[in-house]
Amino acid sequence: MSNKILVAYASRTGSTEGVAQAIGKVLVECGTEVDVCEMQAVKDITPYQAVVAGSGIQGQQWLPEAMQFIRTHKAALASKPFAAFLVCMTLAMRNGEKYRTHVAEWLAPVRVLVRPISEGLFAGALDISQVPSGSHLSHAEGRRCY
Ligand SMILES: Cc1cc2nc3c(=O)[nH]c(=O)nc-3n(C[C@H](O)[C@H](O)[C@H](O)COP(=O)(O)O)c2cc1C
Repeated sequence: MSNKILVAYASRTGSTEGVAQAIGKVLVECGTEVDVCEMQAVKDITPYQAVVAGSGIQGQQWLPEAMQFIRTHKAALASKPFAAFLVCMTLAMRNGEKYRTHVAEWLAPVRVLVRPISEGLFAGALDISQVPSGSHLSHAEGRRCY
C-alpha cells in the first residue's frame, strides 16, 4: 500500500470537483501524496492509505454514481480511514447554517454502508446554465416515482 490519499468526487456542474481539489491541495500542503479523481474513473482503491469521497447533492441525496462508488468499494473502504462530504445549495443560502443538522442526514445512506471517521458539509453553487436542460427533472422525478 502507498502513502497516497484518494480524494474522489461526483459532480454535475463542477462545484464538488472544486471542493475536492481544495481538500486535495490542503492534504498536499500537509505533505501527503494525493490523487483527486472523479469517482467513475476510480477502479481500485486498495493502493490508497485513506479515502475522502464526496458528492454534490440532488434531491437531498448523493448522486447515484457516488452511492454506487460506496457500494462497489464498501469492503475496502471499511478497512481504511474514510471521510465523506457533500456539497449543496442549502448551506449556501442565507441562514443555511441552521440547516446543518438536517443536511448532515443526507449522508445517512452512506453511513449505513460504511461509517466515515469524519464528515464535511460544504456550501455549493448553482449555475443554472450548467444544468442539462430537462435532465434534472427526469432525474429527480425518477427517484420519486420508481
Ligand atoms: C437537479 C438539482 C437538484 C438539487 N437538489 C438539491 C437539494 O435537494 N438540496 C440542496 O441543498 N441543493 C440541491 N441542489 C444544489 C446542488 O447540490 C448544488 O448546486 C451543488 O453545488 C452542485 O454540485 P456540483 O456542481 O458538484 O454538481 C440541486 C441541484 C440540482 C441541479
